[in-house]
Amino acid sequence: MDAFNLLKADHRKVEELFSQLESASGQAKMRVFEQIKMELELHTHIEEKIFYPALEKPKQTHELTLEAYEEHDVVKKLLQQMSKAKSATEEWEAQAKVLQENVEHHVEEEENELFPKAEAALSEEQIEALGEQMEAEKERKQRGATKSSSKKSANKSASKSKSASTAPKRARASKKSGSKSSSKSSSGSKRSKKSAKKSRR
Ligand SMILES: [Fe+2]
Repeated sequence: MDAFNLLKADHRKVEELFSQLESASGQAKMRVFEQIKMELELHTHIEEKIFYPALEKPKQTHELTLEAYEEHDVVKKLLQQMSKAKSATEEWEAQAKVLQENVEHHVEEEENELFPKAEAALSEEQIEALGEQMEAEKERKQRGATKSSSKKSANKSASKSKSASTAPKRARASKKSGSKSSSKSSSGSKRSKKSAKKSRR
């Protein structure tokens, strides 16, 4: 899949989730939010790691790319703030609205301005290669996320966890240290996975 189609598919998915968020209520709303957060974190990660670096150099895309990084930062901060909430308060709802507006603006700017300019600045082969790299990184990250989430819940049950919302970078770094104890906790990991699912509701 080429880079543009991959990113556009992500955009449509998030749009759909935002419309679900509007109609959902109670804990179901928080679950939709968790999904939005996960999708956006994954999406911003592959863009920042693979797509944007390729667009920073060409003159046509330089400025828009720098702007895109900044827009991502705003979105990430909002996600962090919102994930602290246990239920959708009025303030949380307002943040959700701002989040959606920010994402919509960012998506529009990417699809209508950045992508056409990137198409002119990069070769077809480059666009295809970027798409493949992003797809691979997404899969790698998703595999890592399921691993670290089961590890997190295992840690939680051992009451060692400092923060459930540790950054993905730190989660990666803790893999090495966690691998030693994984054999110890492996018998309990299935159980804790189930209980983690329940407790998230
Ligand atoms: Fe983006």
